[in-house]
Amino acid sequence: MKVAFFSTRKYDKQFFTKNNAAYNYELEFLEVPLNRHTVPLAKGHDAVCIFVNDQADSQVLEELAQQGVKLVALRCAGFNNVDLKAAAALGIKVVRVPAYSPYSVAEHTLALILTLNRKTHRAYNRVKEGNFALNGLMGFDLHGRTVGLIGLGKIGLVTAAILKGFGCKVLGYDIAQPAEANEIGVELVDLDTLYAQSDIISLHCPLTPQTHHIINSESLNKMKKGVMLINTSRGALIDTKAVIKALKSEKISYLGLDVYEEEADLFFEDKSEYVIQDDVFMRLLSFNNVLITGHQAFFTSDAMQGIVSVTLQNISDFEEGKALKNEVLP
Ligand SMILES: NC(=O)c1ccc[n+]([C@@H]2O[C@H](COP(=O)([O-])OP(=O)(O)OC[C@H]3O[C@@H](n4cnc5c(N)ncnc54)[C@H](O)[C@@H]3O)[C@@H](O)[C@H]2O)c1
Repeated sequence: MKVAFFSTRKYDKQFFTKNNAAYNYELEFLEVPLNRHTVPLAKGHDAVCIFVNDQADSQVLEELAQQGVKLVALRCAGFNNVDLKAAAALGIKVVRVPAYSPYSVAEHTLALILTLNRKTHRAYNRVKEGNFALNGLMGFDLHGRTVGLIGLGKIGLVTAAILKGFGCKVLGYDIAQPAEANEIGVELVDLDTLYAQSDIISLHCPLTPQTHHIINSESLNKMKKGVMLINTSRGALIDTKAVIKALKSEKISYLGLDVYEEEADLFFEDKSEYVIQDDVFMRLLSFNNVLITGHQAFFTSDAMQGIVSVTLQNISDFEEGKALKNEVLP
C-alpha cells in the first residue's frame, strides 16, 4: 500500500514511521494540506491520510478517484471535512479514528477553564517580572458552580467525571440522552435550561448541519451574564461575530477556544513572521479574558499513539479486505 499523508508535521512522521515497522507500507509525508490545488500529489498512491483541516470535497474526491485512490483514512475523530455522499458515489471508502484518549481533550478543556478562572497565564508573566501584585487575578471556586455540557459522548462524559471531582453540578444536553450520564451524576436537561443555569458552558458535540452556530446571538441571550464559554470541539459550533458582541457587552466574561471557524488558514503553522489578515481572529485575541490554543487538545503522546495505531489498523483492514469497523458512511 502506498499512502500519501497530507498536513503532516515532524511528530506525525515520527509516530507513523515508528509504528509502520509492523506494516511496511510506503508512506509519503507531505506538509501541504489536501485541497483542490494539492490533490495531484496523491497520484500513484492507493490511499490518502488526512487531518482536521484537509478538504475532501466532491471535486477533490473526484480527482482522487481518477488517480486510483480508494481509501481516505482520517487520522482524527471528526469527519465534517469529507463529502461522504460524494465518496460513496465514487466508491472511495472513508475511515476514521472514532476514539482515542478522550482524556486528552477533556483534560485540555479543564486546562482552559482553570487558566481562565485563576489567570495562571497572567500570574506566570507577572512573577517572572518580579510583580507579585494580586490585582486582577481573583478567580472563583469551581466547587458548587454549575457547568453545562453540550454533547455527552466519550469526551463530554470524561469532562463531566472530572468536573464532578471538582464538586461542580453538571448539567448535560445530548440528542442521544446517554444512560452513562446518570451514572456519573450528570443531570440531563433541555438546552434552554442548560443555557439559563450554567456558570460555565462547554461544547463536546460534533459539527453537523444541526450544530453549526449552535452558539449564536439567540442562544447567548439565554445565558447567564458573566458566563464562561469553552469550545474544544469544532470552531463552527460558534458564531464568532456574535460571541465578540457578547464579550463586548460583558455577557460572556471568559472565552476559551481550542478551535476556530476559520482555523484552516492559521492553525498548525508558525505565522509569527507574518501579518495575520483575519480581523475577526485578531479582535478575539485583543480581549484579556479570551484564551486561545491552536487545536492542541488532542495533542498528548497517549492520544497520538492511539490515533496512529488505529489509523494503520484501518489501512490494514482495508488492504486485507476485512470489514471496516471504523468506516464512516453517509
Ligand atoms: N480539539 C481537539 O483536538 C479535538 C479532538 C477530538 C475530538 N474533538 C471534537 O470533539 C467532538 C466530540 O468528540 P467525542 O469523541 O466525544 O465524540 P462522540 O461521538 O463520542 O460524542 C459526540 C456526542 O455528541 C452528541 N450530539 C450529536 N449531535 C448533537 C446535537 N445536535 N446536540 C447535542 N449533542 C449532540 C452525540 O449524541 C454524542 O453523544 C468531536 O466531534 C470533535 O469535533 C476535538
